[in-house]
Amino acid sequence: MDRSDKPRVVLGVSGGIAAYKACELLRRLTESGHDVRVVPTGSALRFVGEPTWAALSGNPVTTGVWEDVHEVPHVRIGQEADLVVVAPATADTLARAAHGLADDLLTNTLLTARCPVVFAPAMHTEMWEHPATAENVATLRRRGAVVIEPAVGRLTGRDTGKGRLPDPGEIFEVCRRVLARGAAPGRDLAGRHVVISAGGTREPLDPVRFLGNRSSGRQGYALARTAVARGARVTLVAANTALPDPAGADVVPVGTAVQLREAVLKAAEDADAVVMAAAVADFRPARYAQGKIKKREGQEPEPVALVRNPDVLAELSAARLRPGQVVVGFAAETDDVLANGRAKLARKGCDLLVVNEVGEDKTFGAEENEAVVLGADGSETPVPHGPKEALADTVWDAVVHMLNAG
Ligand code: CTP
Repeated sequence: MDRSDKPRVVLGVSGGIAAYKACELLRRLTESGHDVRVVPTGSALRFVGEPTWAALSGNPVTTGVWEDVHEVPHVRIGQEADLVVVAPATADTLARAAHGLADDLLTNTLLTARCPVVFAPAMHTEMWEHPATAENVATLRRRGAVVIEPAVGRLTGRDTGKGRLPDPGEIFEVCRRVLARGAAPGRDLAGRHVVISAGGTREPLDPVRFLGNRSSGRQGYALARTAVARGARVTLVAANTALPDPAGADVVPVGTAVQLREAVLKAAEDADAVVMAAAVADFRPARYAQGKIKKREGQEPEPVALVRNPDVLAELSAARLRPGQVVVGFAAETDDVLANGRAKLARKGCDLLVVNEVGEDKTFGAEENEAVVLGADGSETPVPHGPKEALADTVWDAVVHMLNAG
């Protein structure tokens, strides 16, 4: 591929210790056929030097507006970009970007860019939680930038908490999706908060056993990743999944249906949309044995008595925790898929119901999916067999349509 045919990415690097992780992001971007121009801030160069960025990108590296002035880099680099990604984005860089400052090449580039912009913040928890940073992030998101939620974990020094730069592979995935969706209309969930439940609940019988189901969580995670790429703030309530946290989503781990209900209802208080992709157990054991249930020679096992779990989808649909909130359910059916789906949509009272056919070899754990999205207005959108992300985008298309109409 000729250089001019490659998508042009500007990788802005600001001065945090996580700057070294941006080398891995840069490598992934170049190896997957992107032409990457690195624009480090002066402080970033104290962490990782110019020769590293130049060698890994194969492009010259400029930091200040006074270098190569004849090429007017402070205007050209931003104008020509198809995507700007700032990783790590420090509290200072977020503040300068939010306020439209133009005191170095990176902030000039951010002002001249008309392409999608992704920020991957990394800083200490206190700095991330400070109202000044929170307001700057909200401003950037309102303008359509994708601001990835930082990951939780070990920070520099002895601290642990929210503020880690997400895994470079996950940031790369966000970039890939944002690039694929193109400019402004692609970020149609900007400024919105969406809540997604994923995975399958486990209802404990005793300390070692549970009643569970075969949901992997992949569809919910695909919904989370696509919503991040469309600019949403995402809360992902994850029940017993073994998947890496999607960059940009606030992940709330839960175990049982009761815990899932609590986490979803709390997050839904200020949500524009709630998508219940989790397989929630309808019943739980009536009794939890404190000690492991033992088999006794010559004795029949005791039957397991069950009680009903709350129906979170029906409760959300009835409560509408916020005016105009869109509520989406999923239905897994083995027979009479459409008829059962319609009946379930009416029974649960949600706005949209994604119906898919399940069986031993279908849907559970698979990368691909086939479904029909039913609307309370009678609409019916078939989604052909394909990646779970394609179905996720169809769901968000319908959600955006309803949010914009409402
Ligand atoms: N759901 C829920 N709370 C429950 C059970 C299910 O919120 N206690 C949600 C699921 O997240 C999903 C939708 O309801 O979005 C459909 O779940 P499904 O298990 O297919 O429906 P059921 O209510 O169990 O209906 P049936 O038993 O007739 O299949």
